[in-house]
Amino acid sequence: STSAQKLYEGKAKIVYATEKEQEYLTYFKDDATAFNAQKKGTIVGKGEINCTVSSALLKWLESKGIPTHFIDQPSSREMLVKAVKIIPLEVVVRNIAAGSLCKQTGLNQGEKLPFPLVEFYLKNDELGDPLLTRDRLSILNIIPSEQIEQLKQYALQINQHLQEFFQSCQITLVDFKLEFGFDSENNIILADEISPDTCRLWDELEQDKQKRVLDKDRFRQDLGKIESAYQEVQQRVLTQIEKL
Ligand code: C5P
Repeated sequence: STSAQKLYEGKAKIVYATEKEQEYLTYFKDDATAFNAQKKGTIVGKGEINCTVSSALLKWLESKGIPTHFIDQPSSREMLVKAVKIIPLEVVVRNIAAGSLCKQTGLNQGEKLPFPLVEFYLKNDELGDPLLTRDRLSILNIIPSEQIEQLKQYALQINQHLQEFFQSCQITLVDFKLEFGFDSENNIILADEISPDTCRLWDELEQDKQKRVLDKDRFRQDLGKIESAYQEVQQRVLTQIEKL
């Protein structure tokens, strides 16, 4: 894959073309960024963990009837995926108040929400990924409103499956971010990754509010022990996947 054509390089991943037009190879880096890349660092082994966790979860979601871009994990840091045209939206699902929701609404961190909250953010670094309203979404004309509804339904189904799965790992799924794209037949499918970089995950075996954090908040808030937290997630996810 060294001579392959680089199609896109993001903060945490590189996307390469393959010999097949309908397939891309994604490479997971150890680079970490937060707060729209104002904070930068490296988390040793992160690429392998995020690639492995994402591959396992996407494959499992596929078995539950969710269409995803996952094809194969040919090596520890590489994921072979269906070529998609990414929809420039970040779809966030929240079960418990945390992060920007607390900052913007005053809800207390850790408060259980009365229903899963689905939010759409514009994927645009220069604008700082702003939260969109339904009317802003329709004015921006990114995709038709029926497809917005389809994204919301997929996001809620994925949340149901992932909540159940992480519960069996004794991990609370606080919130997470999804990205979707159009495949070669113009179907909407789940793309990108599902990893400790893109989810908030709290260890149910730990009461301490800092120790329980098993996700990128350890990096964002300088809580230390990032590598071991990511490894813990990987170990529990892989152990549980084998049992299913
Ligand atoms: O920062 P905020 O509270 O809005 O993040 C909600 C969820 O979405 C968190 O799990 C966070 O890790 C994820 N997220 C992400 N990429 C972004 C923004 C948020 O993975 N650009």
